[in-house]
Parts: sequence; C-alpha cells; structure tokens
Amino acid sequence: MTASGMTASGVHIRGLTRHFATRRETVVAVDGVDLDTPRGSFLSLLGPSGCGKSTVLRMLAGLDTPTSGEATVNDLAPAALRRTHAYGIAFQDHALLPWRTVERNIAFPFEIAGLPVDKEWVTELLHLVRLEQFAKARPWQLSGGMRQRVAIARALALRPGVLFLDEPFGALDDVTRQRLNVELQRLWSEQQATTVMVTHGVQEAVFLSDKVAVMSPRPGRIKEVIDIDLPRPRTLEMTTSPEFHSYVDRASALLFH
Ligand SMILES: Nc1ncnc2c1ncn2[C@@H]1O[C@H](COP(=O)(O)OP(=O)(O)OP(=O)(O)O)[C@@H](O)[C@H]1O
Ligand SMILES: [Mg+2]
Repeated sequence: MTASGMTASGVHIRGLTRHFATRRETVVAVDGVDLDTPRGSFLSLLGPSGCGKSTVLRMLAGLDTPTSGEATVNDLAPAALRRTHAYGIAFQDHALLPWRTVERNIAFPFEIAGLPVDKEWVTELLHLVRLEQFAKARPWQLSGGMRQRVAIARALALRPGVLFLDEPFGALDDVTRQRLNVELQRLWSEQQATTVMVTHGVQEAVFLSDKVAVMSPRPGRIKEVIDIDLPRPRTLEMTTSPEFHSYVDRASALLFH
C-alpha cells in the first residue's frame, strides 16, 4: 500500500493486441487483453498451446511490439523496463551460456548492464538455489532441474523488481517441478518482485499465484481471472486440501471448455 492508501500498480495492461501477418492470413495472437495486479504480486498466464501467453510476456518485456494497446509493469513501459534492466527473465530453454561456469552464468546480467559483479550476492544466489557445490561446473554437467535453477538465479541477479518466467519448469518431472515451485515461492517472497509466469500447469499456477489469468486461443483472449485466496507460505500439504482442489477444478474447467 502507498501512503495514500492506494495499492501500487504491478501489471497494468489495456487492450493489448498483437497481429502476425503471414502471406496467406493474419493471426490474431493476442486480442484486447486487459489485466491488473498489485505491485509485488504473482500472476500466472495459463492456457493451451498457441493462445498467446509467450507473446504477452514478450510484449511486457519489450522484446516484441504490440499492434495496439499498452502495458506497464511497476509503472514502467516495456521499453523503459528493458533499458533500465528492471526485470529478470527465465525461459523454458534456459539459454545458459555453455562455455561459462554456473557462477559466471549467474553473474552475466551484471556484465550486460555494465555493472561490477556483486560477488557476495552471486554466492548468496548459488546458496538460495542450492547449487553452492556446482559454482565451477559448466551447464552440460548439470541435470535439467539444476539448469532451471541456474536460470532462475540469473533472473534474480540484478535484484529486479519485476520477474518474467516463461514455463520455467516445463521440461521437468512432477516431483522436481513441485520442489522447484516451493523454492520459487520462497525466492519470490524474499524479493517481492512483481511476477508474471507463463505455464501450462494448472496445479503450478494455483500453487504459486495471487491471480491466474486463463486464456483461450485464436484469438488469444483472457477468459477469466481467478483470485487465489490461499494463505502463504503455501506448502505441498496444502495441495491436497479441498480449497486447493476447487481452484484447480475451476481453472481446469475454464481451460478445457
Ligand atoms: N513471430 C511470429 N510470427 C508469426 N506468428 C507468431 C509469431 N509468434 C507467435 N506467433 C503466433 O501467435 C500465436 C501465439 O503464440 P505464442 O507463442 O504466444 O503462444 P503460447 O501461448 O506461448 O504457446 P505455447 O504454450 O505453445 O508456448 C500462435 O498462433 C503463433 O503461431
Ligand atoms: Mg509459449
């Protein structure tokens, strides 16, 4: 809350639209998306393949330009977010630099931003994602889950106020994924970053989020935004509760019908 009693803006999206023109047709990838979240909250975009989730995220991050509409995150437009290194980003394919050690991958955002590497924080991040023992390892020497943890640590390197995650745990088995979800919740709550996560995983979205925006494809639209009113920190035991199941059922029903 701000001094005036108003909640500070996190994600603010109005009429966000993206058309892709091919030779034969125009694909309406994203159509008139409106979304609002408070600063520091966790939003998931949930929806079937091709419904425009990544396109929304890329536009928020200033990596793609909307056909129309506007967006800010923490009151910054995408171009400003990108220019000021105000966000951390992690993708499913993690895109680690194979010739760099784990710690030098995590430190990479400092170099991109032209800042001196905060070595203590890099060590702390290694600890947070439980990879202290692997500081000097190369990405190819790690398991998939360990690589995802490096990608998350790298996204947190500049202590960003904004975090963008595109299926960060997509390629992992359920047990590893659940464990990383618990770790991600902890990291997010420590950083208080305004977060947008793209996922196919209903359970994962409910577990992590304050709001779940369910999308439908062609054209990509928001079907409904579900407020997840479960206490924090959330535990894996909570995922067996009737409240948790009712959220999962509701999101699943929206997804499949
Ligand atoms: N650069 C592009 N050129 C043309 N079409 C594109 C481009 N990027 C995305 N699209 C189209 O926009 C639509 C939405 O794509 P997007 O990648 O945002 O979906 P998604 O919800 O992230 O899917 P997935 O869950 O499979 O990652 C798709 O129909 C896709 O083919
Ligand atoms: Mg995608």
